[in-house]
Amino acid sequence: MTRPQRVLLKEKSPAGVLRRTAVSHIGFRVPDLQVTTRFYGRVLGMHVHDITDERVRLGWGAGHHVLELREGEKGLHHYGFEVRDDGGLDGIRERLNDAGIPFEPLSADYVDHAVGDADGIVVTDPDGTAVHFHTTVARPGENAADPGRRPIKFQHTTLGTADVQPVVDFFTTIGFRVSDQLADGRFCWLRSDRDHHTLAVVNVGIGGDLDHYSYDLAEWEDFKSWCDRLTELDVPVAWGPGRHGPGNNLFVFFDDPAGTHIELSAEMEKFYDDRVEYTPRRWTPTPGSVNLWGGQLPVWRKTSEGN
Ligand SMILES: [Fe+2]
Repeated sequence: MTRPQRVLLKEKSPAGVLRRTAVSHIGFRVPDLQVTTRFYGRVLGMHVHDITDERVRLGWGAGHHVLELREGEKGLHHYGFEVRDDGGLDGIRERLNDAGIPFEPLSADYVDHAVGDADGIVVTDPDGTAVHFHTTVARPGENAADPGRRPIKFQHTTLGTADVQPVVDFFTTIGFRVSDQLADGRFCWLRSDRDHHTLAVVNVGIGGDLDHYSYDLAEWEDFKSWCDRLTELDVPVAWGPGRHGPGNNLFVFFDDPAGTHIELSAEMEKFYDDRVEYTPRRWTPTPGSVNLWGGQLPVWRKTSEGN
């Protein structure tokens, strides 16, 4: 029997660390813009904020947008982070300059509802996808009531790539820290605030892909409401409910009409970088690590050991 391959994803020593940076928005292409826009209203409780000939922006009624949809072949267009760290954006600029990674100013219309002066940059990740970083924005429409019918916030983005290490290098250069990885090096979870991950990277064999993205629910009780409501809306639950090993978060997955995997999550592990030193854990790459509750996997996921 061949011994399973073990890969240690290296984390650079941090030149600067982000502690108050969270996902901001995400943009992807969908084959049928109208159908997908209606889905996000009907199922996720979102409102259309803004429409142009090129794209539709959606969010929860007020404040910064969450989603930007464009018509086209299914795929990731860009993803963004809100940098709430004091001087955080300048620190990112400095670290990118030191690493010789070029970046451009971000169009101010991606920083809608800026608190103070809108400021941002756009940089290209190792797979060629645009990544936005911008200063604090107002989000009065989030964390609101009715958690059984709408999530409380956008929580993380999980990129699909063909090579995990360069993406990890890129984001640790910017100021993210590695929280956990699978021991075969095919999955890595990174943090930029107290949450165990705001970004994850998984080897799916092709670069520039969106593996899934996730919204937070308030508590376990909400999962029951959501699974019942998804069933009433004829949206099949694709995976879960379960609990992930890395992050220890509860999860359930379903797909939008374009086949984009959406995760609902709660109870994610918190990291206290200013009080504790952490060593990234290396999880055995088995279904039981990714799903502690019995190890069932979705049809699109394989682990290198155990299935
Ligand atoms: Fe996730």
